[in-house]
Amino acid sequence: MDQTGWGTDFLQLDPAAAPTRGLPGWLVDVLRAAIGDGRLPTGSRLPATRTFAAELGCSRGVVVEAYRRLADEGLLRAHRGGGTTVLAPPTPSPRAGERAGAYPDGPGWQGPLPQPRPAGGAVIDLSPGVPDLSAFPRGAWLRAERAVLTETHPDDLGYGDPRGHPRLRAALAPWLARTRGLRVTGEDILIVAGVAQAMALLAQALRREGIDRIAVEDPGSRGALDEFDYWGLRPVPVPVDDEGQRVDALAASATRVAFLTPAHQFPTGVVLGAARRRALLAWAATDAELIIEDDYDAEFRYDRAPVPALHRGAPARIAYTGSTSKTLAPAMRLGWLVPPPARYSALVAAKHASDLGSPTVPQLVLARLLESGAYDRHIRLVRTRHRARRDALLDALRAGLPAVTVRGVAAGLHLLVTLPDERMDDAALAERLHADGVLVHPLSRHRRRPGPPGLVLGYAAHPPDRLREAAATIVRAVRPQSR
Ligand SMILES: Cc1ncc(COP(=O)(O)O)c(C=O)c1O
Repeated sequence: MDQTGWGTDFLQLDPAAAPTRGLPGWLVDVLRAAIGDGRLPTGSRLPATRTFAAELGCSRGVVVEAYRRLADEGLLRAHRGGGTTVLAPPTPSPRAGERAGAYPDGPGWQGPLPQPRPAGGAVIDLSPGVPDLSAFPRGAWLRAERAVLTETHPDDLGYGDPRGHPRLRAALAPWLARTRGLRVTGEDILIVAGVAQAMALLAQALRREGIDRIAVEDPGSRGALDEFDYWGLRPVPVPVDDEGQRVDALAASATRVAFLTPAHQFPTGVVLGAARRRALLAWAATDAELIIEDDYDAEFRYDRAPVPALHRGAPARIAYTGSTSKTLAPAMRLGWLVPPPARYSALVAAKHASDLGSPTVPQLVLARLLESGAYDRHIRLVRTRHRARRDALLDALRAGLPAVTVRGVAAGLHLLVTLPDERMDDAALAERLHADGVLVHPLSRHRRRPGPPGLVLGYAAHPPDRLREAAATIVRAVRPQSR
């Protein structure tokens, strides 16, 4: 299609329906939907920004911004000589679980990998832990990678520093200080392939010291529990309540190593209360050998600034870890570990023994994005998108199921629905939902001891319409049981 005859009529745009604020976001959604459903086929040429803005009655900047965001998503290409065309919408490759022979039992973190739906048809996968993957900043990443490859000295392409590239560590230290309150330098940081690798290295180091038990939150991340178990650390469940992990129970467990998600407990969404933080730091100072602080999604707090990380309160006892899995994409496998200084060299040795160090080019790209502020800008953008997605799911659930309690809404990428009738079997409900085309985690999957039933719903990976569709299915499945 070319520009002739292209206009608001074709897209049935109603500028009057546009919000008074957030026009670029509205235009992005409209164009993305048109690309997705084929009204704007691959290769079609979009109108010049000035023409389009005049048709819409908005400023040219709105259209420029919308085109830029869609180019970042990989849906549009701006040509050097001018003109913008539609690219083929990326087709997802088969999920790992749908490839023959891949991870028959699932890798744990995402739970049962989506199997083909029993009755056929597409599944809306609300497994927690996946961000809005369509928002990956492809344009910014490509620009930074081009710059890295242009400026990188050949020597930098040899085996790298197993601690991670010094430039990334130097860029991360002030970022962790500003956003999470850590007091660190690049020398304290070890670059890893995600939180999962940080845990694997820590588990191996602890096993070498003869430690074979670790306290885990209950309910808590099944993925974390399975991973520790794999490495030979027996998980000791410690109850979580509305204030987070019960530190009295932790102290009574006689375990000296604990794994926690204090900023946003997985899966309940609770923030560790102030008194509990103090108690935990007191435990760190007296009885603890090591606390592993998993800060997996702290960047997404919707009502206020996130609570600072615990790390600063006991850096000699806390191993702090985070990653780009929730801010960029889990496929990056890029994260960081700040261990207690006394453990640093043992962990570098474990990292070296595992893979000789993380890949250099992506580290340098991330360093550039941190240095230029593009990483922060991206987080701000996805935070807004995630919040809109949370609101869509939350509103639909609250309207359809007024009797259920929804928790953990202030932060993160998932929410927890606690079911109104304690006798409900959440695993059976999850199976029924799967048959109806919606994949969710039953809360019981993340429990070691019995407790009230619930559903853990990841919302960030789906646009609002799909979430409303999923919510309608959930409402239909829960309602008859809640009578
Ligand atoms: C609580 C929690 N910690 C850690 C991870 C793994 O993170 P990464 O991708 O950084 O290895 C996940 C994955 O979903 C998670 O839910």
